[in-house]
Amino acid sequence: MKRSLLLLPVLFAGWAFAAPASAPAPSTLIANVANRATVSLDGAWRVIVDPFDNGKDRFFHDAKPKDKSDLVEYSFDASPVMNVPGDWNTQRDALMFYEGPVWYRRMFNYHKRDAIRTFVYFGAVNYKATVYLNGEKLGEHEGGFTPFNFECTSLLREGENSLVVEVNNARHADAVPGIKYDWWNYGGITRDVSLIEVPETFIQDYWVQLAKGSQDEVSGSVQLNGAQAAQKITVSIPEAGVHQTFNSDANGRGDFHFHARLELWSPEHPKLYDVDLTIGNDTVHDQIGFRTVEVQGSKILLNGKPIFLRGISMHEEAPFREGRAFSPEDAQTLLGWAKDLGCNFVRLAHYPHNENEVRLADRMGLLLWSEIPVYWDIDWTNPATLANAEAQLRDMIARDHNRAAVILWSMSNETPVKPERLTFIRQLAQEAHDMDSTRLVTSALNHVEGSGTDPRTLSDPLGDVLDVLGLNEYLGWYGGTPQDADKIEWKSNYNKPVIVSEFGAGAVAGRHGDKDERWTEEYQDNLFQHQLAMIQRIPNLVGLTPWVLMDFRSPLRILPGVQDYHNRKGVISNRGQRKLAFYTLQKFYLDRAKDAK
Ligand code: GCU
Repeated sequence: MKRSLLLLPVLFAGWAFAAPASAPAPSTLIANVANRATVSLDGAWRVIVDPFDNGKDRFFHDAKPKDKSDLVEYSFDASPVMNVPGDWNTQRDALMFYEGPVWYRRMFNYHKRDAIRTFVYFGAVNYKATVYLNGEKLGEHEGGFTPFNFECTSLLREGENSLVVEVNNARHADAVPGIKYDWWNYGGITRDVSLIEVPETFIQDYWVQLAKGSQDEVSGSVQLNGAQAAQKITVSIPEAGVHQTFNSDANGRGDFHFHARLELWSPEHPKLYDVDLTIGNDTVHDQIGFRTVEVQGSKILLNGKPIFLRGISMHEEAPFREGRAFSPEDAQTLLGWAKDLGCNFVRLAHYPHNENEVRLADRMGLLLWSEIPVYWDIDWTNPATLANAEAQLRDMIARDHNRAAVILWSMSNETPVKPERLTFIRQLAQEAHDMDSTRLVTSALNHVEGSGTDPRTLSDPLGDVLDVLGLNEYLGWYGGTPQDADKIEWKSNYNKPVIVSEFGAGAVAGRHGDKDERWTEEYQDNLFQHQLAMIQRIPNLVGLTPWVLMDFRSPLRILPGVQDYHNRKGVISNRGQRKLAFYTLQKFYLDRAKDAK
Protein backbone atom coordinates (compact mmCIF):
# COMPACT_ATOMS: atom_id res chain seq x y z
CA MET A 1 0.00 0.00 0.00
CA LYS A 2 1.76 3.03 -1.35
CA ARG A 3 0.62 5.39 1.41
CA SER A 4 2.65 3.41 3.99
CA LEU A 5 5.56 5.68 3.01
CA LEU A 6 4.12 8.25 5.36
CA LEU A 7 4.06 5.94 8.37
CA LEU A 8 7.52 4.44 8.42
CA PRO A 9 9.25 3.27 11.64
CA VAL A 10 9.05 5.36 14.83
CA LEU A 11 10.79 3.93 17.80
CA PHE A 12 11.18 7.19 19.69
CA ALA A 13 10.36 10.86 19.50
CA GLY A 14 13.07 11.37 16.76
CA TRP A 15 11.95 9.97 13.36
CA ALA A 16 14.07 7.38 11.51
CA PHE A 17 13.18 7.55 7.80
CA ALA A 18 14.37 5.93 4.56
CA ALA A 19 12.07 7.58 2.00
CA PRO A 20 13.33 8.85 -1.41
CA ALA A 21 15.46 11.99 -0.79
CA SER A 22 12.74 14.34 -2.12
CA ALA A 23 9.92 13.29 0.23
CA PRO A 24 9.30 15.58 3.22
CA ALA A 25 10.16 14.31 6.72
CA PRO A 26 7.26 12.29 8.13
CA SER A 27 4.61 14.26 9.98
CA THR A 28 5.08 14.39 13.74
CA LEU A 29 1.45 15.27 14.24
CA ILE A 30 -0.57 13.33 16.77
CA ALA A 31 -3.75 12.25 15.04
CA ASN A 32 -7.24 13.05 16.21
CA VAL A 33 -6.31 15.40 19.02
CA ALA A 34 -9.95 16.46 19.13
CA ASN A 35 -10.74 13.15 20.84
CA ARG A 36 -7.62 12.75 22.93
CA ALA A 37 -7.31 13.40 26.63
CA THR A 38 -6.05 16.96 26.87
CA VAL A 39 -5.66 19.96 29.06
CA SER A 40 -6.90 23.09 27.23
CA LEU A 41 -4.56 26.08 27.32
CA ASP A 42 -7.05 28.35 25.57
CA GLY A 43 -8.08 31.56 27.28
CA ALA A 44 -6.30 34.74 28.31
CA TRP A 45 -2.58 34.86 27.56
CA ARG A 46 -0.28 37.75 28.47
CA VAL A 47 1.17 39.41 25.40
CA ILE A 48 4.06 41.72 24.57
CA VAL A 49 3.95 43.47 21.20
CA ASP A 50 7.60 43.71 20.13
CA PRO A 51 7.90 45.57 16.79
CA PHE A 52 11.73 45.64 16.81
CA ASP A 53 12.03 42.02 18.03
CA ASN A 54 13.78 43.41 21.06
CA GLY A 55 12.76 40.38 23.03
CA LYS A 56 14.68 37.91 20.94
CA ASP A 57 16.90 35.79 23.17
CA ARG A 58 15.35 37.35 26.30
CA PHE A 59 11.63 37.24 26.71
CA PHE A 60 11.44 33.43 26.58
CA HIS A 61 12.99 33.41 30.03
CA ASP A 62 9.84 35.06 31.42
CA ALA A 63 12.20 36.61 33.95
CA LYS A 64 11.21 38.53 37.06
CA PRO A 65 13.52 40.92 38.95
CA LYS A 66 15.47 38.92 41.59
CA ASP A 67 15.46 41.93 43.91
CA LYS A 68 14.70 45.66 43.95
CA SER A 69 17.90 46.59 42.16
CA ASP A 70 17.71 43.87 39.50
CA LEU A 71 16.99 45.27 35.98
CA VAL A 72 14.41 43.38 33.92
CA GLU A 73 12.93 45.60 31.19
CA TYR A 74 9.87 43.52 30.43
CA SER A 75 7.19 41.76 32.41
CA PHE A 76 4.55 39.38 31.18
CA ASP A 77 2.74 39.66 34.53
CA ALA A 78 2.29 43.38 33.95
CA SER A 79 1.40 42.99 30.28
CA PRO A 80 -2.14 43.06 28.83
CA VAL A 81 -3.95 39.86 27.89
CA MET A 82 -5.13 38.58 24.54
CA ASN A 83 -7.58 35.74 23.88
CA VAL A 84 -6.33 32.47 22.50
CA PRO A 85 -7.49 31.27 20.07
CA GLY A 86 -7.85 34.52 18.21
CA ASP A 87 -5.97 36.89 15.89
CA TRP A 88 -4.48 40.02 17.46
CA ASN A 89 -5.70 42.31 14.64
CA THR A 90 -9.37 42.24 15.65
CA GLN A 91 -8.69 42.17 19.36
CA ARG A 92 -6.93 45.53 19.43
CA ASP A 93 -7.54 48.34 16.92
CA ALA A 94 -3.92 49.44 17.19
CA LEU A 95 -2.88 46.02 15.89
CA MET A 96 -5.22 45.84 12.90
CA PHE A 97 -2.37 46.51 10.46
CA TYR A 98 0.42 45.14 12.68
CA GLU A 99 2.88 42.68 11.15
CA GLY A 100 5.82 41.52 13.26
CA PRO A 101 6.68 39.77 16.51
CA VAL A 102 4.28 39.38 19.42
CA TRP A 103 5.22 37.36 22.50
CA TYR A 104 2.56 35.26 24.24
CA ARG A 105 2.86 33.73 27.72
CA ARG A 106 0.58 31.30 29.46
CA MET A 107 1.13 30.10 33.03
CA PHE A 108 -0.44 26.76 33.93
CA ASN A 109 -0.31 24.29 36.80
CA TYR A 110 0.55 20.72 35.99
CA HIS A 111 0.61 17.49 37.94
CA LYS A 112 3.16 15.07 36.52
CA ARG A 113 2.28 11.36 36.39
CA ASP A 114 4.49 8.33 35.82
CA ALA A 115 4.48 6.61 32.45
CA ILE A 116 2.70 9.57 30.84
CA ARG A 117 4.19 11.54 27.96
CA THR A 118 2.98 15.07 27.35
CA PHE A 119 2.87 17.08 24.14
CA VAL A 120 1.84 20.69 23.62
CA TYR A 121 -0.42 20.99 20.53
CA PHE A 122 -1.19 24.11 18.50
CA GLY A 123 -4.07 24.06 15.99
CA ALA A 124 -2.35 26.89 14.10
CA VAL A 125 -0.17 29.95 14.67
CA ASN A 126 0.23 32.62 11.97
CA TYR A 127 2.89 32.70 10.63
CA LYS A 128 6.06 31.63 12.48
CA ALA A 129 6.02 30.26 16.02
CA THR A 130 8.94 29.68 18.38
CA VAL A 131 7.84 27.80 21.48
CA TYR A 132 9.52 27.73 24.90
CA LEU A 133 8.61 25.93 28.12
CA ASN A 134 10.09 27.08 31.39
CA GLY A 135 12.81 28.97 29.51
CA GLU A 136 13.79 26.02 27.28
CA LYS A 137 13.11 25.96 23.54
CA LEU A 138 10.65 23.24 22.45
CA GLY A 139 10.74 24.00 18.76
CA GLU A 140 9.77 26.19 15.82
CA HIS A 141 7.00 25.99 13.24
CA GLU A 142 6.43 27.86 10.00
CA GLY A 143 3.08 28.10 8.21
CA GLY A 144 -0.03 29.82 9.49
CA PHE A 145 -2.70 27.18 8.85
CA THR A 146 -1.45 23.74 9.88
CA PRO A 147 -1.18 22.18 13.34
CA PHE A 148 1.98 21.15 15.14
CA ASN A 149 2.98 19.57 18.44
CA PHE A 150 6.13 19.25 20.52
CA GLU A 151 6.87 16.70 23.23
CA CYS A 152 7.48 18.49 26.54
CA THR A 153 7.47 15.60 29.05
CA SER A 154 11.01 16.22 30.28
CA LEU A 155 10.64 20.01 30.61
CA LEU A 156 7.36 20.04 32.50
CA ARG A 157 7.50 20.96 36.19
CA GLU A 158 5.28 19.77 38.98
CA GLY A 159 3.12 22.82 39.75
CA GLU A 160 3.54 26.11 37.90
CA ASN A 161 4.83 26.17 34.31
CA SER A 162 5.54 29.04 31.92
CA LEU A 163 4.77 28.51 28.22
CA VAL A 164 6.10 31.31 25.98
CA VAL A 165 5.48 31.57 22.24
CA GLU A 166 7.06 34.15 19.97
CA VAL A 167 4.65 34.66 17.07
CA ASN A 168 5.75 36.57 13.98
CA ASN A 169 3.46 37.18 11.00
CA ALA A 170 5.94 39.20 8.98
CA ARG A 171 5.69 38.34 5.27
CA HIS A 172 8.71 37.08 3.33
CA ALA A 173 9.29 36.50 -0.38
CA ASP A 174 10.53 32.95 0.32
CA ALA A 175 7.53 32.08 2.50
CA VAL A 176 4.29 30.19 1.67
CA PRO A 177 2.25 32.27 0.95
CA GLY A 178 4.67 34.89 -0.36
CA ILE A 179 4.50 38.67 -0.02
CA LYS A 180 1.18 39.41 -1.75
CA TYR A 181 -2.20 37.78 -1.24
CA ASP A 182 -5.83 38.81 -1.24
CA TRP A 183 -6.71 38.11 2.42
CA TRP A 184 -5.89 39.75 5.73
CA ASN A 185 -2.65 38.68 7.38
CA TYR A 186 -4.30 37.91 10.71
CA GLY A 187 -1.51 37.24 13.19
CA GLY A 188 -1.53 35.29 16.41
CA ILE A 189 -2.31 31.94 18.00
CA THR A 190 -5.38 31.52 15.88
CA ARG A 191 -6.57 28.03 16.88
CA ASP A 192 -6.81 25.93 20.05
CA VAL A 193 -3.79 25.11 22.21
CA SER A 194 -3.78 22.03 24.39
CA LEU A 195 -1.62 19.60 26.33
CA ILE A 196 -1.95 16.02 25.11
CA GLU A 197 -1.28 13.26 27.61
CA VAL A 198 -0.52 9.81 26.21
CA PRO A 199 1.00 6.55 27.49
CA GLU A 200 4.70 5.88 26.80
CA THR A 201 3.74 4.00 23.65
CA PHE A 202 0.70 5.41 21.96
CA ILE A 203 -1.19 5.48 18.67
CA GLN A 204 0.43 8.36 16.79
CA ASP A 205 -1.52 8.04 13.55
CA TYR A 206 -3.94 5.77 11.71
CA TRP A 207 -5.76 5.41 8.40
CA VAL A 208 -9.15 3.71 8.35
CA GLN A 209 -10.79 3.91 4.91
CA LEU A 210 -12.31 1.84 2.17
CA ALA A 211 -9.67 0.23 -0.01
CA LYS A 212 -9.23 2.06 -3.30
CA GLY A 213 -12.05 1.17 -5.67
CA SER A 214 -13.86 -1.05 -3.10
CA GLN A 215 -17.12 -0.44 -1.26
CA ASP A 216 -16.80 -3.32 1.24
CA GLU A 217 -13.08 -3.76 1.90
CA VAL A 218 -11.63 -1.64 4.70
CA SER A 219 -7.91 -1.14 4.58
CA GLY A 220 -5.77 0.87 6.85
CA SER A 221 -2.77 1.17 9.05
CA VAL A 222 -1.71 2.28 12.48
CA GLN A 223 1.54 3.91 13.49
CA LEU A 224 2.66 3.67 17.09
CA ASN A 225 5.06 6.05 18.78
CA GLY A 226 7.10 4.68 21.65
CA ALA A 227 9.39 1.90 22.80
CA GLN A 228 6.82 -0.91 22.83
CA ALA A 229 6.54 -0.82 19.03
CA ALA A 230 5.50 -4.43 18.41
CA GLN A 231 2.02 -4.64 19.87
CA LYS A 232 -1.40 -6.23 19.42
CA ILE A 233 -3.74 -3.63 17.93
CA THR A 234 -7.50 -3.81 17.79
CA VAL A 235 -9.73 -1.90 15.43
CA SER A 236 -13.42 -2.06 16.10
CA ILE A 237 -16.48 -0.64 14.40
CA PRO A 238 -19.18 -1.85 16.79
CA GLU A 239 -22.16 -0.82 14.65
CA ALA A 240 -20.80 -2.86 11.73
CA GLY A 241 -19.87 -5.81 13.91
CA VAL A 242 -16.20 -5.30 13.20
CA HIS A 243 -13.63 -6.33 15.80
CA GLN A 244 -10.27 -7.02 14.16
CA THR A 245 -6.93 -7.67 15.81
CA PHE A 246 -3.56 -7.46 14.14
CA ASN A 247 0.05 -6.80 15.14
CA SER A 248 2.39 -3.93 14.62
CA ASP A 249 5.94 -4.60 13.49
CA ALA A 250 9.19 -3.62 15.17
CA ASN A 251 8.77 -0.14 13.77
CA GLY A 252 5.38 0.28 15.36
CA ARG A 253 3.56 -0.04 12.11
CA GLY A 254 0.54 -2.29 11.60
CA ASP A 255 -1.52 -2.79 8.45
CA PHE A 256 -5.00 -4.25 8.30
CA HIS A 257 -7.47 -5.22 5.65
CA PHE A 258 -10.89 -6.71 6.24
CA HIS A 259 -14.34 -7.10 4.76
CA ALA A 260 -17.20 -5.02 6.22
CA ARG A 261 -20.78 -4.18 5.28
CA LEU A 262 -20.96 -0.41 5.68
CA GLU A 263 -23.44 2.29 4.76
CA LEU A 264 -21.57 4.62 2.44
CA TRP A 265 -21.05 8.28 3.37
CA SER A 266 -22.43 10.84 0.92
CA PRO A 267 -23.81 14.40 1.10
CA GLU A 268 -27.34 13.00 1.10
CA HIS A 269 -26.40 10.39 3.74
CA PRO A 270 -23.41 11.58 5.83
CA LYS A 271 -23.17 8.35 7.78
CA LEU A 272 -20.36 8.30 10.35
CA TYR A 273 -19.31 5.19 12.28
CA ASP A 274 -17.78 5.10 15.74
CA VAL A 275 -14.34 3.57 15.31
CA ASP A 276 -12.03 2.57 18.15
CA LEU A 277 -8.37 1.70 17.86
CA THR A 278 -6.70 0.17 20.89
CA ILE A 279 -3.29 -0.95 21.99
CA GLY A 280 -2.45 -1.93 25.57
CA ASN A 281 -3.50 1.15 27.55
CA ASP A 282 -4.15 3.55 24.70
CA THR A 283 -7.49 3.85 22.88
CA VAL A 284 -8.35 6.38 20.21
CA HIS A 285 -11.98 6.97 19.34
CA ASP A 286 -13.00 8.58 16.10
CA GLN A 287 -16.07 9.04 13.93
CA ILE A 288 -15.34 8.07 10.35
CA GLY A 289 -17.38 7.99 7.16
CA PHE A 290 -16.65 5.43 4.45
CA ARG A 291 -16.92 6.47 0.80
CA THR A 292 -14.92 6.14 -2.41
CA VAL A 293 -13.97 8.96 -4.76
CA GLU A 294 -12.26 8.57 -8.11
CA VAL A 295 -11.97 10.06 -11.56
CA GLN A 296 -13.31 8.16 -14.55
CA GLY A 297 -12.46 9.99 -17.76
CA SER A 298 -13.92 13.44 -17.34
CA LYS A 299 -16.20 12.47 -14.48
CA ILE A 300 -15.77 12.38 -10.72
CA LEU A 301 -17.40 9.31 -9.19
CA LEU A 302 -18.52 9.34 -5.58
CA ASN A 303 -19.27 5.79 -4.40
CA GLY A 304 -19.09 4.72 -8.03
CA LYS A 305 -21.64 7.28 -9.32
CA PRO A 306 -20.95 10.52 -11.22
CA ILE A 307 -21.45 13.57 -9.00
CA PHE A 308 -22.02 17.26 -9.77
CA LEU A 309 -20.34 19.49 -7.20
CA ARG A 310 -22.68 22.35 -6.24
CA GLY A 311 -20.14 24.45 -4.41
CA ILE A 312 -19.01 27.78 -3.05
CA SER A 313 -15.55 29.12 -2.19
CA MET A 314 -15.01 30.27 1.36
CA HIS A 315 -12.35 32.02 3.42
CA GLU A 316 -11.78 31.25 7.13
CA GLU A 317 -13.17 34.64 8.09
CA ALA A 318 -15.49 34.89 11.07
CA PRO A 319 -19.03 35.93 10.22
CA PHE A 320 -20.29 39.16 11.86
CA ARG A 321 -17.32 39.80 14.22
CA GLU A 322 -14.71 39.23 11.45
CA GLY A 323 -11.17 38.12 12.14
CA ARG A 324 -9.84 34.59 11.73
CA ALA A 325 -12.66 32.08 12.27
CA PHE A 326 -11.88 29.19 14.63
CA SER A 327 -14.90 28.11 16.68
CA PRO A 328 -17.57 25.43 16.16
CA GLU A 329 -20.09 28.28 16.06
CA ASP A 330 -18.21 30.07 13.26
CA ALA A 331 -18.13 26.81 11.33
CA GLN A 332 -21.83 26.19 11.91
CA THR A 333 -22.75 29.65 10.58
CA LEU A 334 -20.52 29.49 7.50
CA LEU A 335 -21.28 25.90 6.47
CA GLY A 336 -24.92 26.42 7.38
CA TRP A 337 -25.02 29.24 4.82
CA ALA A 338 -23.45 26.94 2.23
CA LYS A 339 -26.17 24.37 2.95
CA ASP A 340 -28.84 27.07 2.62
CA LEU A 341 -27.39 27.85 -0.80
CA GLY A 342 -28.08 24.25 -1.81
CA CYS A 343 -24.39 23.25 -1.79
CA ASN A 344 -22.99 19.73 -1.48
CA PHE A 345 -19.41 21.02 -1.79
CA VAL A 346 -17.19 23.80 -0.38
CA ARG A 347 -13.78 25.01 -1.53
CA LEU A 348 -11.77 25.95 1.57
CA ALA A 349 -9.63 28.80 0.17
CA HIS A 350 -6.63 29.25 0.06
CA TYR A 351 -5.16 27.42 3.04
CA PRO A 352 -6.15 24.50 5.35
CA HIS A 353 -9.07 25.67 7.48
CA ASN A 354 -9.68 24.75 11.10
CA GLU A 355 -10.67 21.23 12.10
CA ASN A 356 -14.04 22.38 13.43
CA GLU A 357 -15.08 23.17 9.87
CA VAL A 358 -13.77 19.92 8.42
CA ARG A 359 -15.38 17.71 11.08
CA LEU A 360 -18.65 19.63 10.77
CA ALA A 361 -18.60 19.06 6.99
CA ASP A 362 -18.23 15.33 7.75
CA ARG A 363 -21.38 15.49 9.88
CA MET A 364 -23.34 17.85 7.60
CA GLY A 365 -22.55 16.00 4.38
CA LEU A 366 -20.51 18.68 2.61
CA LEU A 367 -17.68 17.56 0.32
CA LEU A 368 -14.48 19.58 0.66
CA TRP A 369 -11.61 20.96 -1.42
CA SER A 370 -8.64 21.67 0.89
CA GLU A 371 -5.71 23.77 -0.34
CA ILE A 372 -2.20 24.83 0.66
CA PRO A 373 -1.34 28.54 0.25
CA VAL A 374 0.90 28.21 -2.81
CA TYR A 375 -0.77 31.38 -4.04
CA TRP A 376 0.03 33.65 -7.00
CA ASP A 377 3.83 34.03 -7.34
CA ILE A 378 6.27 32.52 -4.82
CA ASP A 379 9.99 31.73 -4.72
CA TRP A 380 9.78 28.64 -6.95
CA THR A 381 13.48 27.83 -7.14
CA ASN A 382 14.19 28.17 -3.43
CA PRO A 383 14.59 24.71 -1.79
CA ALA A 384 13.48 26.13 1.57
CA THR A 385 10.25 27.37 0.00
CA LEU A 386 9.62 23.93 -1.51
CA ALA A 387 10.33 22.22 1.82
CA ASN A 388 7.92 24.64 3.50
CA ALA A 389 5.16 23.91 0.97
CA GLU A 390 5.83 20.16 1.28
CA ALA A 391 5.54 20.35 5.05
CA GLN A 392 2.23 22.25 4.84
CA LEU A 393 0.93 19.67 2.35
CA ARG A 394 2.08 16.79 4.54
CA ASP A 395 0.43 18.24 7.65
CA MET A 396 -2.79 19.17 5.87
CA ILE A 397 -3.06 15.50 4.81
CA ALA A 398 -1.88 14.23 8.19
CA ARG A 399 -4.64 16.09 10.05
CA ASP A 400 -7.60 15.36 7.74
CA HIS A 401 -6.90 12.06 5.99
CA ASN A 402 -9.63 10.21 7.91
CA ARG A 403 -12.31 12.76 6.99
CA ALA A 404 -14.77 11.41 4.39
CA ALA A 405 -15.76 15.00 3.49
CA VAL A 406 -12.33 15.84 2.05
CA ILE A 407 -12.12 14.60 -1.56
CA LEU A 408 -9.66 17.03 -3.15
CA TRP A 409 -6.18 18.21 -2.14
CA SER A 410 -5.33 21.45 -3.95
CA MET A 411 -1.68 22.26 -4.57
CA SER A 412 -1.99 25.91 -5.56
CA ASN A 413 -4.04 28.89 -6.73
CA GLU A 414 -3.50 31.11 -9.79
CA THR A 415 0.21 30.50 -10.20
CA PRO A 416 2.09 31.84 -13.25
CA VAL A 417 2.90 29.49 -16.12
CA LYS A 418 6.68 29.02 -15.99
CA PRO A 419 8.96 25.97 -15.89
CA GLU A 420 10.13 26.37 -12.29
CA ARG A 421 6.51 26.58 -11.14
CA LEU A 422 5.63 23.40 -13.02
CA THR A 423 8.59 21.56 -11.44
CA PHE A 424 7.61 22.79 -7.98
CA ILE A 425 3.93 21.87 -8.18
CA ARG A 426 4.56 18.59 -10.00
CA GLN A 427 6.69 17.59 -6.99
CA LEU A 428 3.89 18.50 -4.60
CA ALA A 429 1.28 16.63 -6.66
CA GLN A 430 3.48 13.54 -6.71
CA GLU A 431 3.92 13.67 -2.94
CA ALA A 432 0.20 14.18 -2.41
CA HIS A 433 -0.48 11.04 -4.45
CA ASP A 434 2.27 9.17 -2.57
CA MET A 435 0.86 10.20 0.80
CA ASP A 436 -2.78 9.59 -0.11
CA SER A 437 -3.78 7.41 -3.05
CA THR A 438 -7.46 7.57 -2.06
CA ARG A 439 -8.11 11.25 -2.91
CA LEU A 440 -7.84 13.51 -5.95
CA VAL A 441 -5.26 16.20 -6.62
CA THR A 442 -6.17 19.57 -8.14
CA SER A 443 -5.07 23.20 -8.48
CA ALA A 444 -6.95 26.42 -9.33
CA LEU A 445 -5.68 27.57 -12.73
CA ASN A 446 -6.32 30.94 -14.35
CA HIS A 447 -4.22 30.54 -17.46
CA VAL A 448 -6.47 30.09 -20.52
CA GLU A 449 -5.76 30.81 -24.16
CA GLY A 450 -8.08 33.24 -25.95
CA SER A 451 -9.37 36.72 -25.05
CA GLY A 452 -12.19 39.11 -25.82
CA THR A 453 -15.11 37.05 -27.06
CA ASP A 454 -12.80 34.46 -28.72
CA PRO A 455 -13.06 30.82 -27.64
CA ARG A 456 -11.13 29.96 -24.48
CA THR A 457 -8.91 26.92 -24.14
CA LEU A 458 -7.73 25.30 -20.92
CA SER A 459 -4.15 24.57 -21.85
CA ASP A 460 -2.14 25.18 -18.68
CA PRO A 461 0.73 22.60 -18.70
CA LEU A 462 0.05 21.98 -15.01
CA GLY A 463 -3.07 20.14 -16.15
CA ASP A 464 -0.85 17.18 -16.92
CA VAL A 465 -0.06 16.44 -13.27
CA LEU A 466 -3.56 17.01 -11.87
CA ASP A 467 -6.52 14.64 -11.55
CA VAL A 468 -9.04 17.48 -11.64
CA LEU A 469 -8.63 20.96 -13.13
CA GLY A 470 -9.79 24.01 -11.21
CA LEU A 471 -10.59 27.02 -13.42
CA ASN A 472 -10.66 30.59 -12.12
CA GLU A 473 -12.19 33.05 -14.62
CA TYR A 474 -13.48 36.55 -14.03
CA LEU A 475 -15.24 37.31 -17.27
CA GLY A 476 -17.42 40.36 -16.81
CA TRP A 477 -15.47 41.65 -13.81
CA TYR A 478 -11.75 41.84 -14.60
CA GLY A 479 -12.50 42.25 -18.29
CA GLY A 480 -15.48 42.43 -20.65
CA THR A 481 -19.11 42.66 -19.65
CA PRO A 482 -21.19 39.99 -17.95
CA GLN A 483 -23.11 39.50 -21.21
CA ASP A 484 -19.89 38.62 -23.08
CA ALA A 485 -20.12 35.22 -21.42
CA ASP A 486 -23.04 34.41 -23.74
CA LYS A 487 -20.72 34.45 -26.77
CA ILE A 488 -17.75 32.57 -25.39
CA GLU A 489 -17.04 28.93 -26.20
CA TRP A 490 -14.72 26.77 -24.14
CA LYS A 491 -12.33 23.97 -25.02
CA SER A 492 -9.99 21.92 -22.88
CA ASN A 493 -6.74 20.22 -23.87
CA TYR A 494 -7.42 17.63 -21.19
CA ASN A 495 -9.98 14.85 -20.93
CA LYS A 496 -10.13 15.55 -17.19
CA PRO A 497 -12.91 16.80 -14.89
CA VAL A 498 -13.17 20.60 -14.60
CA ILE A 499 -14.40 22.54 -11.56
CA VAL A 500 -14.96 26.28 -12.11
CA SER A 501 -13.22 27.15 -8.86
CA GLU A 502 -13.79 30.91 -9.12
CA PHE A 503 -15.96 33.47 -10.90
CA GLY A 504 -17.62 36.44 -9.31
CA ALA A 505 -18.21 40.18 -8.97
CA GLY A 506 -18.09 42.71 -6.16
CA ALA A 507 -21.29 44.17 -4.70
CA VAL A 508 -22.05 46.21 -1.61
CA ALA A 509 -24.96 44.60 0.23
CA GLY A 510 -27.98 46.88 0.00
CA ARG A 511 -26.56 48.97 -2.84
CA HIS A 512 -28.99 48.87 -5.75
CA GLY A 513 -28.96 50.25 -9.29
CA ASP A 514 -29.14 49.02 -12.85
CA LYS A 515 -27.29 45.88 -13.88
CA ASP A 516 -24.47 47.78 -15.55
CA GLU A 517 -23.60 49.73 -12.43
CA ARG A 518 -20.58 48.25 -10.65
CA TRP A 519 -20.80 47.47 -6.96
CA THR A 520 -24.58 47.08 -7.08
CA GLU A 521 -26.29 43.80 -6.23
CA GLU A 522 -27.89 43.96 -9.69
CA TYR A 523 -24.50 43.98 -11.43
CA GLN A 524 -23.30 40.97 -9.41
CA ASP A 525 -26.57 39.11 -9.94
CA ASN A 526 -26.55 39.80 -13.65
CA LEU A 527 -23.02 38.44 -13.87
CA PHE A 528 -24.05 35.29 -12.00
CA GLN A 529 -26.95 34.71 -14.39
CA HIS A 530 -24.73 34.92 -17.48
CA GLN A 531 -21.95 32.92 -15.85
CA LEU A 532 -24.23 30.07 -14.76
CA ALA A 533 -25.51 29.79 -18.34
CA MET A 534 -21.99 29.93 -19.86
CA ILE A 535 -20.44 27.51 -17.40
CA GLN A 536 -22.72 24.72 -18.50
CA ARG A 537 -21.06 24.90 -21.92
CA ILE A 538 -17.59 24.23 -20.46
CA PRO A 539 -16.48 20.71 -21.46
CA ASN A 540 -15.97 18.14 -18.68
CA LEU A 541 -17.65 20.40 -16.13
CA VAL A 542 -18.25 18.53 -12.85
CA GLY A 543 -18.88 21.44 -10.54
CA LEU A 544 -18.30 25.02 -9.46
CA THR A 545 -17.33 27.08 -6.40
CA PRO A 546 -18.15 30.72 -7.16
CA TRP A 547 -16.07 33.38 -5.48
CA VAL A 548 -17.13 33.75 -2.65
CA LEU A 549 -19.51 32.85 0.21
CA MET A 550 -18.94 35.94 2.37
CA ASP A 551 -17.23 39.33 2.00
CA PHE A 552 -13.84 39.13 3.69
CA ARG A 553 -11.12 41.51 4.83
CA SER A 554 -8.28 42.15 2.42
CA PRO A 555 -5.44 44.70 2.36
CA LEU A 556 -5.73 44.81 -1.46
CA ARG A 557 -9.31 46.13 -1.48
CA ILE A 558 -9.17 49.78 -0.58
CA LEU A 559 -11.93 51.69 -2.39
CA PRO A 560 -13.42 53.97 0.30
CA GLY A 561 -17.14 53.66 0.96
CA VAL A 562 -17.26 50.47 -1.13
CA GLN A 563 -14.49 48.07 -0.17
CA ASP A 564 -12.91 49.66 2.92
CA TYR A 565 -10.36 46.83 3.03
CA HIS A 566 -12.94 44.17 2.18
CA ASN A 567 -13.27 41.99 -0.86
CA ARG A 568 -16.97 42.46 -1.64
CA LYS A 569 -17.46 39.44 -3.89
CA GLY A 570 -19.44 37.60 -1.24
CA VAL A 571 -22.97 36.46 -2.09
CA ILE A 572 -23.45 37.23 1.60
CA SER A 573 -21.99 40.29 3.33
CA ASN A 574 -19.78 39.98 6.42
CA ARG A 575 -22.89 41.11 8.34
CA GLY A 576 -24.88 38.14 7.02
CA GLN A 577 -26.94 40.07 4.44
CA ARG A 578 -27.82 37.85 1.47
CA LYS A 579 -27.33 39.61 -1.85
CA LEU A 580 -29.48 39.02 -4.98
CA ALA A 581 -26.84 36.67 -6.39
CA PHE A 582 -27.30 34.41 -3.36
CA TYR A 583 -30.83 33.62 -4.49
CA THR A 584 -29.85 33.18 -8.15
CA LEU A 585 -27.19 30.66 -7.19
CA GLN A 586 -29.54 28.98 -4.68
CA LYS A 587 -32.21 28.49 -7.35
CA PHE A 588 -29.61 27.10 -9.77
CA TYR A 589 -28.46 24.57 -7.16
CA LEU A 590 -31.88 23.53 -5.94
CA ASP A 591 -32.95 22.92 -9.53
CA ARG A 592 -29.83 20.85 -10.17
CA ALA A 593 -30.35 18.87 -6.99
CA LYS A 594 -33.92 18.14 -8.03
CA ASP A 595 -32.79 17.00 -11.50
CA ALA A 596 -30.10 14.78 -9.95
CA LYS A 597 -32.67 12.85 -7.92
C1 GCU B 1 -8.44 35.61 -7.40
C2 GCU B 1 -7.96 34.89 -6.19
C3 GCU B 1 -8.76 35.21 -4.97
C4 GCU B 1 -9.18 36.67 -5.03
C5 GCU B 1 -10.12 36.82 -6.20
C6 GCU B 1 -10.56 38.24 -6.40
O1 GCU B 1 -8.84 34.82 -8.31
O2 GCU B 1 -7.83 33.51 -6.30
O3 GCU B 1 -7.98 34.95 -3.85
O4 GCU B 1 -9.78 37.06 -3.85
O5 GCU B 1 -9.47 36.48 -7.38
O6 GCU B 1 -9.95 38.91 -7.22
O7 GCU B 1 -11.50 38.67 -5.75
